[in-house]
Amino acid sequence: MTREEAKKRIEQLREELERHNYQYYVLNKPLISDQEYDEMMRELIELEERFPEFFDPNSPSQRVGADINKEFEQAEHEYPMLSLSNTYTREELIEFDARIRKEVDEPFKYVAELKYDGTAISLIYEEGRLVQAITRGDGMRGDVVTDNIRTIRSIPLVLRGTGWPRRFIIRGEVFMPYEGFRRLNEERIRNGEEPFANPRNAAAGTLKLQNPSLVAKRPLDCFLYYLLGEDLPTDSHYENLQIARSWGFKVPEEMERYDNLEGVFRFIDKWDVQRKDLPYATDGVVIKVDSLRLQQRLGNTAKSPRWAIAYKFKAEQAKTRLLSVDFQVGRTGAITPVANLEPVLLAGTVVKRASLYNDDQIRQLDLHIGDTVYVEKGGEIIPKITGVDLTLRPPDARPVVFVTHCPACGTPLVREEGEAIWYCPNEEGCPPQIKGRIEHFISRKAMNIEGLGEETIDLLYRKGLVRDAADLYELTVEQLAPLERLGEKSARNIIESIERSKEVPFERVLFALGIRYVGETVARKLARHFGSIDALAEASLEELMAAEEVGEKIARSIRTFFSKPANRRLIERLRAHGVKMALDEDQREETPPLLEGKTFVVSGVFRHFSREEIKQTIEKYGGKVSSSVSSRTTYLLAGEKPGPNKLEKAAALNIPVISEEDFLKMIRGTGPQDNTEEDGQKKLPFA
Ligand code: IVH
Repeated sequence: MTREEAKKRIEQLREELERHNYQYYVLNKPLISDQEYDEMMRELIELEERFPEFFDPNSPSQRVGADINKEFEQAEHEYPMLSLSNTYTREELIEFDARIRKEVDEPFKYVAELKYDGTAISLIYEEGRLVQAITRGDGMRGDVVTDNIRTIRSIPLVLRGTGWPRRFIIRGEVFMPYEGFRRLNEERIRNGEEPFANPRNAAAGTLKLQNPSLVAKRPLDCFLYYLLGEDLPTDSHYENLQIARSWGFKVPEEMERYDNLEGVFRFIDKWDVQRKDLPYATDGVVIKVDSLRLQQRLGNTAKSPRWAIAYKFKAEQAKTRLLSVDFQVGRTGAITPVANLEPVLLAGTVVKRASLYNDDQIRQLDLHIGDTVYVEKGGEIIPKITGVDLTLRPPDARPVVFVTHCPACGTPLVREEGEAIWYCPNEEGCPPQIKGRIEHFISRKAMNIEGLGEETIDLLYRKGLVRDAADLYELTVEQLAPLERLGEKSARNIIESIERSKEVPFERVLFALGIRYVGETVARKLARHFGSIDALAEASLEELMAAEEVGEKIARSIRTFFSKPANRRLIERLRAHGVKMALDEDQREETPPLLEGKTFVVSGVFRHFSREEIKQTIEKYGGKVSSSVSSRTTYLLAGEKPGPNKLEKAAALNIPVISEEDFLKMIRGTGPQDNTEEDGQKKLPFA
């Protein structure tokens, strides 16, 4: 196949695959079988591998997500991402309407939409292509999560139809449908991971994953509900969204336009009931003034627009009796109270338990055993107790008293100054802590040892076979095979999986050790910064705090961990079994800080990099990336078709504009020189 033929076929496959994505994920009307789809995808991937010069970050093949881990850079929102003021009553909606009518003396329309309960996202399109996706962040700046967003199949990477502005922003809600959420949590529980409390947390947590290929495996979806830009098709929010639907966006069908509040009230009544049948979570109705001109006239307060408001549905509530309170011990020794309730039906499921956060909350509610309590499920899987009906308290009811001793091992509990949580300090002898640490050690994001669930760990513990993570490496097939529910085959799989875990990189081993406050990200930073467990163990408080993301609390916790002989012994035994206690050679590769002290603004399309890649490269070499040209900018790095505003501003401020080629020379540290090979092809910077 010639290059030209390959190019044509690649383009054809990309277009067709995107069409089928759209049919399947936006319209819910697949036209071909999964098998045919996979076949085309395979062909595309193969061709893209053979002809890397046709790489395109917006190819449907990229939706599986690159298997890379990286920190997010931040970007400023061109238009701040405001929140909406909330109301729970119709009276407040009538007041909202009156405020608007005072300002606007012409007929206008309202648009009523559902309020989707996920996490907000802002997507930037240029020339019909997705160029950047930014989370809400603090409303002014957010995380750039473009690579993660590309994995959401219902978000168009390249727009369909015609008539889109050269550049615009579209905002919406990334969410996880109930069904996918349920499956994800089941899997997490199976892997000994903490389940997500609700679909909203699951969606937000997923978007913040550092590895897009993991995001691709999570069932995210996205509804779009607001367009911004200088040359939108019409003055009507409603019509613009309908048009955006024709560009391939998933714009909700549940949306109506009304001349007055009466219609809005009908919409609310209808959806307060029917939302219970929707496959995703909604928590209210958003009411917006339709005309963009009027929206602009009404303007915003510091926090929210004056032209829109959210009417929140009441969380579903039930009344039941508190039977008892259990106190559970987590792997860190934290004690969590859990309420046992008389079973009651709430939002379609029978509720028997509810979470109580801590001692303070129990006191605040003045909770007594036998109390009639209100339980609420605000999109949460585990409902919470929100109040007590004091009129129904039995005369002899005893107050709930927080335990003073560990319910598992009897050790007196401790609580640090200013903290709300009680801990059992008996780390070495308290069974749920011991088992919890092993469960954490084997979990997927840590050592990823398969075949060992919570129950098997419990069994191994009871049989006296494991007391800590290092014991796992001394298990044999002969020991495991005779155990209940295991057998020869599972035993072999477990031992193999334990063996494989010796290949797990140091940063995950560090996370697996379960040092308090050292989560995945901090573990990665520490691993990169210190390189080995020995260097980390010897680091002083100050040296620890010099690492990125490490504050005093984390530094102290690390010192405490290494000050305990039991932990030192555990590490030595793990090391002796071949578990990695240092970075591999290739992870140590240092990039020279050639761009240190330089701030780049990046604009346009590049030949060798996607936008994201070029920014990552700048940072890798020690430079900074900023989103707008200012006197602090060192260079404007311009690809093809750079933004005219940025060019103008750079010219006005006398800031040098450099090309992609200039940039490549800079990072090669070779200064100006010819970078063309004999065949006339440009060299790739990092083959
Ligand atoms: S419009 C300035 N429409 O609610 C108004 N927001 O508290 C822009 N949300 O951050 C938002 N469904 O995450 C709008 N149909 C909808 C929405 C919606 C959910 C979320 C969004 C926003 C929050 C506001």
